[in-house]
Amino acid sequence: MAAVAVLLDRDSGARTGWSLCYCASSKEESSVANVPLRSGGRAARIAVIPGDGIGKEVIPEAVKVLKAVTAPAKRPMEFVEFDWGADKYLREGVTLPPGAVEMLRDEFDAILLGALGDPRVPSNQHAADILLGLRFKLDLYVNARPIELMHERLTPLRDRKEKDIRLMVIRENTEGLYVGVGGFFKKGTPDEIAVQEDVNSRKGVERIIRYAFEYARQNGLKRVCMSDKSNAMTFAHDLWQRVFKEVRQEYPAIESRHLYIDTLAMEIVRDPGQFDVIVTCNLFGDIISDLGAQLAGGLGLAPSGNIHPGKTSLFEPVHGSAPNIAGKGIANPLGSALASGMMLDFLSWKREAQVLRESVKAALHENCVTPDLGGVKQTVEVGEWLAKFAESHARA
Ligand code: NAD
Ligand code: IPM
Ligand code: MN
Repeated sequence: MAAVAVLLDRDSGARTGWSLCYCASSKEESSVANVPLRSGGRAARIAVIPGDGIGKEVIPEAVKVLKAVTAPAKRPMEFVEFDWGADKYLREGVTLPPGAVEMLRDEFDAILLGALGDPRVPSNQHAADILLGLRFKLDLYVNARPIELMHERLTPLRDRKEKDIRLMVIRENTEGLYVGVGGFFKKGTPDEIAVQEDVNSRKGVERIIRYAFEYARQNGLKRVCMSDKSNAMTFAHDLWQRVFKEVRQEYPAIESRHLYIDTLAMEIVRDPGQFDVIVTCNLFGDIISDLGAQLAGGLGLAPSGNIHPGKTSLFEPVHGSAPNIAGKGIANPLGSALASGMMLDFLSWKREAQVLRESVKAALHENCVTPDLGGVKQTVEVGEWLAKFAESHARA
């Protein structure tokens, strides 16, 4: 018990990690139960989906680091790998196998995913079924994408220090333009019409906005910015405006602000230090998180968590399968390592999460990095360095 208390004290100190919310994010949920399911038992079962391209190169390194960081505490973490991706789809016509969602929901604590996307599947059908399928069917309504400068040399912005670039993008992950409502009319003719609907539910908008405020509150952050395009999207984003105005009244201690997405894109480059938490819709969150990733060193470094508090959640790097470098052994594994750190945090393995983050920082400071960050190391070399560092520091 004493050891636990020490760890909690340490974790509640300076803002050293991304502590994800386990809170319920709607009034309805909070009245039912405020207790997280995945609250950090000694053991965890992780489903591993390396996927396509560089996913198959970076995920084994992340698993290596996870094993190393959890070994000293003798915390059992079981990994079960699934070969879902383009090869299987092309070979067997199978994307997300029947029963997969129920299995992941009932038998696993979390999922670690690499990336999905393959030039041989131009429709991207398997990625839609597997990645978007899991986000939707597991109802992983939060896509948490931290943007954090871990070494000042990594930002393309002039005169910025680590403290100037540290914010969290909270992207709605189950609705919007991603739901696949739409269709073609007169396809292939000169009169063709293509329609894609932007679907926003009151409940969906409310829970993501509330999550953003809760995230800020629980992490001692003072500023939440909601971004939309309500000046042009006068129905869908009018709903976001109304819900934001309502929910923010529950958080008087947090400074709330609204920016149109085009202005946000400009402001986040001009002065990223003005943001703590950004909450936005599915598509805008996708775009702004890549922009933000580059401010902090690039896609190779950016992690994300697809989360439903208390339920099996999915962690992955922000980047894709990078066919242009796949198979060369030079993909940066640090984004996947940091995503694994977010996963440990979600599982409430706080000390291990912290050590993993420190390992990534140390690799950056030692310039033990792949070519995208100006280094000369191979993916496997970085992974092994991280694992060694993580194991010895977890032991300390
Ligand atoms: P991408 O993220 O794969 O690559 C963009 C650029 O960043 C490329 O130059 C790539 O080499 C570089 N890059 C990305 N990750 C890197 C890493 N870890 N180390 C070093 N360099 C890295 O985006 P894209 O090229 O637009 O997409 C390729 C495929 O991946 C597409 O099929 C796309 O749909 C898919 N995709 C999947 C996911 C996912 O599964 N979560 C995310 C984004 C894109
Ligand atoms: C991401 C990706 C996915 C998205 C694609 C592959 C569907 O870009 O995770 O950021 O748009 O969500
Ligand atoms: Mn993306």
